[in-house]
Amino acid sequence: MAWRVILSVLFLISSNLQGGAAGAPQVPCYFIYGDSLCDSGNNNDLVTDAKANYSPYGVDFPEGATGRFTNGRTFADIIAELLGFDEYIPPFATANGSDILRGVNYASGGAGIRDETGQQLGGRISLNHQLQNHLITVLRIREMLGEDAATYLNKCAYTIWMGSNDYLNNYLMPDIYPTSTLYTPEEYADVLIEQYEQQLKTLYSYGARRLAIFGLSEIGCAPAEVAEYGTNGSLCVDKIDDLVLPFNDRLKPLIKELNSNLTGAEFVYVSTYGVTTNAVPGASLTSPTCCKVKKDDGQCIPFSTPCLNRTLYSYYDGFHPTETVHLEVAEIGYAALLSSDASPFDFYRVSGGSEEGYSESKR
Ligand SMILES: *[C@@H]1O[C@H](CO)[C@@H](O)[C@H](O)[C@H]1NC(C)=O
Ligand SMILES: *[C@@H]1O[C@H](CO)[C@@H](O)[C@H](O)[C@H]1NC(C)=O
Ligand SMILES: *[C@@H]1O[C@H](CO)[C@@H](O)[C@H](O)[C@H]1NC(C)=O
Ligand SMILES: *[C@@H]1O[C@H](CO)[C@@H](O)[C@H](O)[C@H]1NC(C)=O
Repeated sequence: MAWRVILSVLFLISSNLQGGAAGAPQVPCYFIYGDSLCDSGNNNDLVTDAKANYSPYGVDFPEGATGRFTNGRTFADIIAELLGFDEYIPPFATANGSDILRGVNYASGGAGIRDETGQQLGGRISLNHQLQNHLITVLRIREMLGEDAATYLNKCAYTIWMGSNDYLNNYLMPDIYPTSTLYTPEEYADVLIEQYEQQLKTLYSYGARRLAIFGLSEIGCAPAEVAEYGTNGSLCVDKIDDLVLPFNDRLKPLIKELNSNLTGAEFVYVSTYGVTTNAVPGASLTSPTCCKVKKDDGQCIPFSTPCLNRTLYSYYDGFHPTETVHLEVAEIGYAALLSSDASPFDFYRVSGGSEEGYSESKR
């Protein structure tokens, strides 16, 4: 892997300079919760349409198609590299033995904050279920480390990016889900955030302290949404983008409150709004996806030939960004994880959209 080469070069340089000292990761472990944006294979053995373990997914990934919903690495893979891990964090589905001491990736395509989210796709591991899986890991780590386990788990890095599917594969599907008739967009954001609050507190109770929580991005710009709804001359489906903003607006103050109520919590909000559309400035609007997509679900047509130059695209398929976007997201998320350590400020991405220039004190 290219980054291994880079890491070993850096290691050689630093060991030359400092005469030794191994390049240990900055944290002992990294735990990942989320949906298809960071699934690395947990859905492969589920009966579901939300799968990406076939070509042309993984065209730029060393092991090829692994279940990652993009051409290369996800932001979580890249954060693991930036943290200094020399192997990717294993998916829960295949992590075993002492692997789990480095951390586990629980993310599952189609999953949501709400249990029913994504059910029309088939199997998926909801956030509640991801937390149950994490409890299994915590108990196994306790068996391995005994009374040191709690301190160990406190030192790990944690990232969570959930909520997109609670809109795309729930609220925006009125034929299947009743949520849009039960709740106004504002009420739905309240309901989601109330549930998310409980889930974040559960994560804290299992030992998470340094946790980066990603806000929702401009999901109304996804080519599959644009194709379905049209844009009235805008670049994106504005009514979908507007729908997710109340969620972000409520998440930020919640995180602040959790930090003051939960001793030792260093939760940070990571704004990703605008990142997908801004990462590749000249991305084509007429041919917005790198792979050829299926009309029904926006995923890549199996074994089709993708575009040649992936760096020219924001979206790999109808919903999921290319590695180029993931790189940008990873930099923001990594900086957020560090900032909780070193700076008294929340980390807000300075970018387009309604969160431009947003920055304020944390405690
Ligand atoms: C862990 O799983 C891998 C493949 O999934 C297998 O090769 C390996 O033997 C397993 N290790 C343990 C300790 O079970
Ligand atoms: C387009 O504009 C019309 C009229 O303002 C509105 O009813 C419709 O919801 C808009 N469509 C989208 C996709 O925003
Ligand atoms: C934080 O604590 C205050 C005071 O006990 C309480 O009113 C509030 O609901 C708590 N907030 C959260 C998010 O737990
Ligand atoms: C891909 O596009 C980028 C940006 O225009 C360019 O710098 C790069 O050389 C291209 N790569 C290939 C293999 O054509």
